[in-house]
Amino acid sequence: MKPRDRLRIAMQKSGRLTEPALDLLNRCGLTFRQSRDKLFLFGEGEPVDLLLVRDDDIPGLIAQGVCDLGIVGRNVLSEFQLTAGREGPALSEWRSLGFGRCRLSIAVPQEFDYREPAQLQGMRIATSYPGLLGEWLRTNGVDAGVVTLAGSVEIAPRLGTADAICDLVQSGGTLVANQLREADVLLESEAVLTGPEALPTDERGDMIDLLLKRLDGVIQVRESRLLLLQTSRSALDAVIRLLPGGPQPTLLPVAGQPDQLMLQALCAGEVSWRQLEEIKKAGAREMFVLPVEKMLA
Ligand code: PRP
Ligand code: ZN
Repeated sequence: MKPRDRLRIAMQKSGRLTEPALDLLNRCGLTFRQSRDKLFLFGEGEPVDLLLVRDDDIPGLIAQGVCDLGIVGRNVLSEFQLTAGREGPALSEWRSLGFGRCRLSIAVPQEFDYREPAQLQGMRIATSYPGLLGEWLRTNGVDAGVVTLAGSVEIAPRLGTADAICDLVQSGGTLVANQLREADVLLESEAVLTGPEALPTDERGDMIDLLLKRLDGVIQVRESRLLLLQTSRSALDAVIRLLPGGPQPTLLPVAGQPDQLMLQALCAGEVSWRQLEEIKKAGAREMFVLPVEKMLA
């Protein structure tokens, strides 16, 4: 295969991961020109292009070397590793991306009183994840029939083709609508960045390095806030004690007011009105909470 000089990332064409994945890449400084067929998005600034495909095809495209990286649910990656991917080159989970959280769970009819996996002995379980389900059944010493379906798994019990299902649950709405309830969790999933265990040694490897650093910067600060405030030196200790978690604050002098300090702190999460009011009571004023967009340590 002719070596490529541009990095190619596979992601879901249309689904729950598409929008947040594009948003994340945009925050990493990657922008794309839409091609007419929308299968291929050409990168404008950096040499990084996107291939928009069915999520289940993503690990295979990377294993074949058609794409260098992929953004996909951990559920899809793990299933591939247990089934089709067993033969080919190993794929790694490079980063978990913090969106698209869901669970791969066993669900049973509402009237079924589920307490333990052994109750599934001899049952037929419908799923699109035969690899993950099979492994879980083996681990739990349960001998059950696995009915592999490509989609609409949740209606199998009503159709009488299965007694239980193993499917993704996010809000739980699909289960309720089908008179099912979640019985056991096989896998906690979210969107991950995946790629081959061995990264390319050419410029694409450097590009992946750069992308991982930018991703870390974005992921780290996504929930962060920068807190700015003014305080008297005498109130400083009390104010610092109330600051939400994060690294040590920075202190700056205030021109013409030797007893005043300007404090700057990076906070790990949202800063609430309640917290601000407490800090103000301790002696702070002129307080600002700013979102953090990028960070390069
Ligand atoms: C998944 C899963 C369920 C639904 C669960 O399907 O197969 O049908 O989401 O979500 P809920 O708990 O919020 O109702 P998805 O919409 O991702 O489509 P797919 O299975 O065809 O990929
Ligand atoms: Zn799917």
